[in-house]
Amino acid sequence: MQFHPASLAEPWWKRGVVYNLYPCSYMDTNGDGWGDIAGIRARLDHLVGLGIDAIWMSPVYVSPMKDFGYDVVDHTAVGAQFGTLAEMDGLIADVHARGMKLMIDFVPNHTSDQHPWFLESRSSRDNPRADWYLWRDPASDGGPPNNWRSLFGGSAWAWCEERGQYWYHAFLAEQPDLNWRNPAVAHAQHDVMRFWLARGIDGFRVDAMWHLLKDPHWRDNPPNPDFRPGEPAIRQFLQIRTADLPETVEVVCGLRRVLDEFPDRAMIGELYLDYDRMCAYYGPTSDGCNLPFNQHLIMDPWRAEVVARGIETYEAALPAGAWPNWIFGNPDNPRVASRLGPAQARVAAVFLLTARGTPILWQGDELGLENGVVPPERVRDPQEKREPGLVDHNRDIARTPMPWDGSRFAGFSTVEPWLPLTEDHATVNVAAEEADPRSMLTLHRRLIALRRAHPALAIGAVTVLCGANDVLAFERRHGTEVFVVALNLAHAPRTVALPPAAGGRIALTSGLDRGGESVGETLCLGPDEAVVIAVAG
Ligand code: GLC
Ligand code: CA
Repeated sequence: MQFHPASLAEPWWKRGVVYNLYPCSYMDTNGDGWGDIAGIRARLDHLVGLGIDAIWMSPVYVSPMKDFGYDVVDHTAVGAQFGTLAEMDGLIADVHARGMKLMIDFVPNHTSDQHPWFLESRSSRDNPRADWYLWRDPASDGGPPNNWRSLFGGSAWAWCEERGQYWYHAFLAEQPDLNWRNPAVAHAQHDVMRFWLARGIDGFRVDAMWHLLKDPHWRDNPPNPDFRPGEPAIRQFLQIRTADLPETVEVVCGLRRVLDEFPDRAMIGELYLDYDRMCAYYGPTSDGCNLPFNQHLIMDPWRAEVVARGIETYEAALPAGAWPNWIFGNPDNPRVASRLGPAQARVAAVFLLTARGTPILWQGDELGLENGVVPPERVRDPQEKREPGLVDHNRDIARTPMPWDGSRFAGFSTVEPWLPLTEDHATVNVAAEEADPRSMLTLHRRLIALRRAHPALAIGAVTVLCGANDVLAFERRHGTEVFVVALNLAHAPRTVALPPAAGGRIALTSGLDRGGESVGETLCLGPDEAVVIAVAG
């Protein structure tokens, strides 16, 4: 089955590659151990060299940093530790001058408890913003109004003395959830979007998009029969009353209407859902989120059958005109190189950059960075602090600073950084990998260059050819241009009959070898090898 051949005139967010940049850990220029906007501007050449099209930058708003910028105190100002609004304008200009787009994180679901909106809302039951957050009376025993839990552990309800009521927080108590059923809230947040869009921001990564609405009847969440001890406590209940309510899509369509007041903008939406529910967020007529996150490569096992079926399920679920996306890592999950191992991380890179759908690359994955080692006394992540010791739960391990070179602080800073550097930073760093023709960085550069050069890879249709015996293979086609991609997900060799690849030549392999080799009807794949074959065009 062939899916949705696309035209060449596709917008940047369909044909391009997005890079998720984490400001705290990208580059520190003022020696405080934390990354800053000046650091991003100083190191843009890395992104130009990589060949990416758009940056999605995690938050740099004014924030007490209880959740590292996802607790916003002022949506239209830049936190002093990151820089100034003028520097932000400079960054927008610098990024645009290099032919790239700049998307920023937009955090509509909650604010900091220090935000003026919340300070006013909590002050009484009858102030002008009394209904801007989710306030409820206590249960008859004086306890929380229902069984809703925070994603960071414990009850999702915090007590407010002034009002004699609880406020709801999906994340930290210091991150009260806004009441998106109140039109004034939507209006205020829409104006935040307009502020940044008018400054030249090309779009948003919308934080916690699937959390925007909660059950208007405040019903309990039901127990999760699949909960296993050792999992985060939030998994004890199915989040059906607190996330992914069907009418959330209407709120998302409202965000899209604001975006569409400006030309050529786009939004990516954060959600962790199965293919069907995820695709609902594109909107009934693709008038919702441009790219609702597809987190399946993070959530699902890395197996040929699973990924092959995933591609077909996804393509079948996409509404007309909708465009997929793929992602292996983000600041909230363990690194792909640690999850799959370094050898399969190269196979994963080939998949990400040849799949049909916008690739979203997490900072550091282009170097093959593995999880950082963060001793208990250096833990920063509030999620880990509130529920310590669970497997793969500490988000710090994915957020360690970019290693730029082999020097003491890896060229990231002149002092010990806010999180420890990766232990192998003396050898695994940008400078070393730039000099190595077989490095992970070189592989990423070559893959991105190939994708940019060939519409079949960037925007072509996809047909799954094989998803068995550890081999995942698919065809990409645009007009007369045809590529076949074959990935060996095993640590042992595999041979696969691949008639559609016959007569083709190897354009690139995960080992950056075998280039130009001609391909017959069967293909021999080395252990952990992925090949991209140019068949016609
Ligand atoms: C998203 C962010 C995460 C943050 C949370 C609350 O999941 O990716 O880092 O903690 O939202 O804003
Ligand atoms: Ca700094």
